[in-house]
Amino acid sequence: MMKKIDLNGRRALITGAGGGIGRAMALRLAEDGMKLALVGRDPEKLVRTAALTGRPLDMLVLPVDLTKPRGIDDVMHIMEGHFKGLDVLINNAGMALNKSFEETTLDEYDRIMAINARVPFELCRRCLPLLRTSDCPTIINIGSVVSHKGYVHQAAYAASKHALLGMTKALAKEVAPEGIRVHMLSPGGVYTDMVKIARPDLSEEGMIAPEEVAELAAFLIEHRGNGVIDEIEIHRAGKEPFL
Ligand SMILES: NC(=O)c1ccc[n+]([C@@H]2O[C@H](COP(=O)([O-])OP(=O)(O)OC[C@H]3O[C@@H](n4cnc5c(N)ncnc54)[C@H](OP(=O)(O)O)[C@@H]3O)[C@@H](O)[C@H]2O)c1
Repeated sequence: MMKKIDLNGRRALITGAGGGIGRAMALRLAEDGMKLALVGRDPEKLVRTAALTGRPLDMLVLPVDLTKPRGIDDVMHIMEGHFKGLDVLINNAGMALNKSFEETTLDEYDRIMAINARVPFELCRRCLPLLRTSDCPTIINIGSVVSHKGYVHQAAYAASKHALLGMTKALAKEVAPEGIRVHMLSPGGVYTDMVKIARPDLSEEGMIAPEEVAELAAFLIEHRGNGVIDEIEIHRAGKEPFL
């Protein structure tokens, strides 16, 4: 029988929690009684997420641009002081870019690599000492079908999500002996602001709902059997996997 963890009172840090998949994961994990550090750039969106949980006092709202020099330091400082440890890290904040290869500037390449690959790398590095104090330490990185494939006008996005996948695989092996579980969720098109901007041609019908991704995240955190799930690719039913 697979062991199911009681998440009540356990602590998670979720980046990009002001909307889309991040907000859906926050609401799902709050339902199970988790205390959450909600990170994103827009304070109003984070406060809204905290309010929607119905338990705003258990939520730590951290409006920070994670790519700014002191961004991660500030998050770690406040979160450590408040939570005194951590059970779950979810690297979800990210950006997409829909531009031809030649039109993509180096500045855009650096910006997308920073939030999609460099920030998760540094947050994992900084959170590992805290996760070691937990009895259910879990990291979930939100990749994409673009972690595996390349599509036109998505070279920079694909490069960043491939980088995140490589890092996730290596880290998962490195910390497995300590009981730290590292997973990647790689969805296709999820109906959020990101996809509305990147692919305005797609409609909500037939798209993956953010709540479906949130449910899988909750499953990975709650279930700690002997069989470990490295990665879940989430495809749109009846479609080739693509954003
Ligand atoms: N939607 C899809 O089809 C899809 C498919 C596969 C993978 N994904 C991945 O899923 C994740 C969530 O995306 P989403 O679809 O939910 O899009 P979204 O609604 O646009 O959410 C992205 C979040 O990332 C935050 N963020 C971006 N840059 C940041 C920065 N520098 N510092 C702090 N926070 C930052 C944003 O915060 P603010 O709003 O406050 O700026 C926002 O809350 C991303 O990693 C994305 O690549 C999405």
